[in-house]
Order: sequence, then C-alpha cells, then structure tokens
Amino acid sequence: MSKKYDTPLLDELEKGPWPSFVKEIKKAAKKSERAADELGQVEKSYKTKRGYWKHGGIVGVLGYGSGVIGRYSSLPEEFPGVAHFHTVRINQPSGWFYTTKALREMCDMWDKYGSGLTNMHGSTGDMILLGTNTESLEPIFAEFSSRGWDLGGSGSAMRTPSCCVGPGRCEWANIDTLDINYALTQEFQDELHRPSFAYKFKIKTAGCAVDCIAAIARADLSIIGTWKGDIKIDQAEVKNYAKNGMDINAEIVDMCPTGCMSYDGKKLKIEDEDCNRCMHCIAKMTKALRPGDERGATLLIGSKAPIVVGAMLSWVVVPFIKLEPPYQELKDLIRKILEWWDENGKARERIGEVIEHKGMRSFLEYVGLPPVPQMIKEPRRDPFFFWAEKDLK
Ligand code: HEM
Ligand code: HEM
Ligand code: SF4
Ligand code: SF4
Repeated sequence: MSKKYDTPLLDELEKGPWPSFVKEIKKAAKKSERAADELGQVEKSYKTKRGYWKHGGIVGVLGYGSGVIGRYSSLPEEFPGVAHFHTVRINQPSGWFYTTKALREMCDMWDKYGSGLTNMHGSTGDMILLGTNTESLEPIFAEFSSRGWDLGGSGSAMRTPSCCVGPGRCEWANIDTLDINYALTQEFQDELHRPSFAYKFKIKTAGCAVDCIAAIARADLSIIGTWKGDIKIDQAEVKNYAKNGMDINAEIVDMCPTGCMSYDGKKLKIEDEDCNRCMHCIAKMTKALRPGDERGATLLIGSKAPIVVGAMLSWVVVPFIKLEPPYQELKDLIRKILEWWDENGKARERIGEVIEHKGMRSFLEYVGLPPVPQMIKEPRRDPFFFWAEKDLK
C-alpha cells in the first residue's frame, strides 16, 4: 500500500536512538488499512491537540464478559480503517515461554483479522493484539481457541495472572512461579472471563524478592518467594569473589539494608535473625550464598497505580506460607480476600483503597489472618496496631 498520509509531527518521534512506535506503525501500515488510518488519526490529533478515540461500551465474544477492549474513532468517515479499533487480550503462557511456531501463527492470524500491531506484552502480562472490528471478534476467538489459546481478563474482573520466569530459567526462584501462576489461572477462570467485581484485581507471582514481575508495585495480591532459616555461606567462594576483585565490604556488607552482615577480610558473617531476605547479597554473590532450605512465599496486598487515590505499594499480610500443589490454602485465602473486597468496595476501588478506608482490622478479621509485626505500612512508622474492646480489660 502506498503512503496514505503525510505525518510530519509523528515523524519527529522517529528521531533519536530509541525504539519508535511511529516506525512500527508505519511498517504495519504498508500492509494494513487499519494501521494506515491510525497514523492519519493520530497525526490529526497532534495537529489539533484533540483526541479522537472514544470508549464505545462493551464488546466481546459469546459467553465471555472480558478479554476484548472496545475502541472506536469519533471520525469514522474520515478514518474508516479505525472506525473500530478494538484490542484483544490473549492469555499468555506462564513466564512467556512460546515456540516460534506459536508466535508465527499468532502473527499470521493477526495480519488476517487485525492491524498487524501487537504489544508484547501489556503490563497485565497478556499478549495484546491492537486494532480490529466487532465483526472479526468471533472468528478471531474461534481461530485462537482452536489452537489452545484463550482470552485474558479485562474490565472489572480478575486480570490474567502473571509471574516471573522463575524456575524455568532462574536459580533464585524459591517457589515454582510457573506452576502457581497456571494453577491460579485455572482456578479463577470464572472470575477472569466474567467481570463481576467493582474493579480489577491483579495477581502476580515472583520467585524471589528481586521481583522481576514488579508485583510489589502493581499487583493487588503479590506472591513473592522467600525462605526461612539461615543463608548458606560457602566461605571458599567468598574468598574467590574477593580474589577476583570484589570489594566485599563496599559492594555487599555496606549495601545490606538491615546492616546484618560483617566481613573481616577472611570470613563473611550474617546475623540471620536481622536479615529481611532482600536478596541483595545472594544476587551479587550467587556462588557463595544460597537461601535457606525452607522455601515458601510472602503474600502482600494492595498495590496499584494511581486512579482513585495515588499509587500504593503492597503491605505484607502473610509473612510466610508454604506453597505446594494444589495450593489449596492460597486459593481459599484468595477467595476470602475477594469476598471482603466485593462486599466493601465502591465502584473503581482497588482492594488497597478499601483497606485504607475500612481499615486493616476489618480486612484481617474477615479473612481470618492474625495481625503480626511484619504488617508495617512503611518502614519506621508504627504498624497499625489495634486493640479490640475485649482486649482492653
Ligand atoms: C492520556 C491518554 C492515555 C493514557 C494515560 C492511557 C493509559 C493506559 C494505561 C496505563 C494502560 C495499561 C497499560 C498496560 O496494561 O500495559 C492502558 C491500556 C490501554 N489503553 Fe490506554 N491510555 C491513554 C489513551 C488511550 C487511547 C487513546 C486508547 C485507544 C485508542 C487507549 C487504549 C488502551 C487499550 C486498548 C489498553 C489495553 C492495552 C493493554 O492491555 O496493554 N488508551 N492505557
Ligand atoms: C495523564 C497521565 C496519566 C494517567 C491518566 C495515567 C493513568 C493510568 C491508569 C488509569 C493506570 C492503570 C491503573 C491501575 O492499574 O490501577 C496506569 C498505570 C500505569 N501507569 Fe499511568 N497514567 C499517567 C501517566 C503515567 C506516566 C507519566 C507514567 C510513567 C512515567 C505512567 C506509568 C504507568 C505504568 C507503568 C502503569 C502500569 C501499572 C500497572 O500495571 O498497574 N503513567 N496509569
Ligand atoms: S523474581 Fe527472582 S526468581 Fe523470579 S526471575 Fe527474578 S530473580 Fe529470578
Ligand atoms: S538478604 Fe539482604 S538483608 Fe539479608 S543479609 Fe543479604 S543483603 Fe542483608
């Protein structure tokens, strides 16, 4: 297809050393009328400083309430290729492991039905396919599901759970993030596909405190692998690191956030009861240090990006939980958490916000978790310690 529009303003965004979405949309526009008209509409927006996308209500496939995000142009006559420009979310495999064959098939299907533009991956985790029309949705779903794919979550639903690559590639994983993620995805199919909450609910699983999935800042429920017991030290390997030029005091000991390490030039020591298992030392000296043998996870609740109130980070609600298949204790707890949130949340309130206004006490009492000192809201601020009437005698 020859070039449809001049886009001097968008062209500016191709300059510089960075990847450019304009470059990518132009590539797609060679084959796709939708992508071409997207360029035209966005250029017009840049010129007039007005948006021309509108939210057009719910679209989807039969039997599902979520998975497709409806987008329309408010200038359909001028830009017919984007009259509809819906997004399809495809549930990614745990840890984003694909065969090239699967990716090729996916791309071919998207060239056939959509704009050819993808976002791999959205911050929910899904494969995001951008730009199709309402009539194509059922055929898209039929083709994808015949190959074993399913739609992901969107709207006021459980969002597609996601996890770090975990034991698939990473020796620091304390838990099997891939299996946990798959198990939770299967368990909450109904909540994923049939939006019935006041707002979204995200679950993300990281194998350790490095938190490559950024669960602690983005997930309503974060599951973060950790351990109990002493960090295992191989002093001979510590010596090797020193010999190979690592300044162990500057790079490890002084960087320990709890100040629980010491090194006298010969031996590395850790006061394990003060360690908060942040992973810094283990990540830096992988050969010398290993987590303790009792592995499990810390559960945290409540993080989110800004919308009703500002951004929030998660709070610890369960300092340590063993996670072994079929993860029944975890699943039961999640159901309790969802119940409390559903009963107490107003429209568009994430669970962190509901805890802010209802109080951690109400939350903990309902879900049946004991208040513990690890539940601090911010470092060095009093935990929300509370007494019930009956405790005061
Ligand atoms: C100031 C304007 C906008 C802001 C700040 C904004 C912000 C966001 C954010 C933060 C997300 C979540 C991204 C993610 O999960 O990776 C998102 C997703 C999305 N937005 Fe926007 N957006 C804007 C305009 C638009 C417009 C104009 C459209 C459509 C024409 C649009 C369509 C979508 C779609 C389809 C998604 C879901 C994609 C995904 O899951 O990755 N947004 N938006
Ligand atoms: C007009 C300005 C902005 C608006 C209206 C906006 C809006 C939003 C909304 C509605 C979400 C989804 C919230 C949620 O998941 O609870 C979101 C998420 C996000 N925003 Fe923004 N945003 C803006 C600016 C920015 C900027 C400047 C950045 C980065 C520099 C940013 C980075 C993100 C990221 C990374 C997420 C994903 C977080 C997640 O997965 O939950 N946003 N934003
Ligand atoms: S979060 Fe931890 S276990 Fe998961 S990939 Fe990152 S470093 Fe590895
Ligand atoms: S894991 Fe973190 S807190 Fe624990 S000893 Fe290592 S650096 Fe210190």
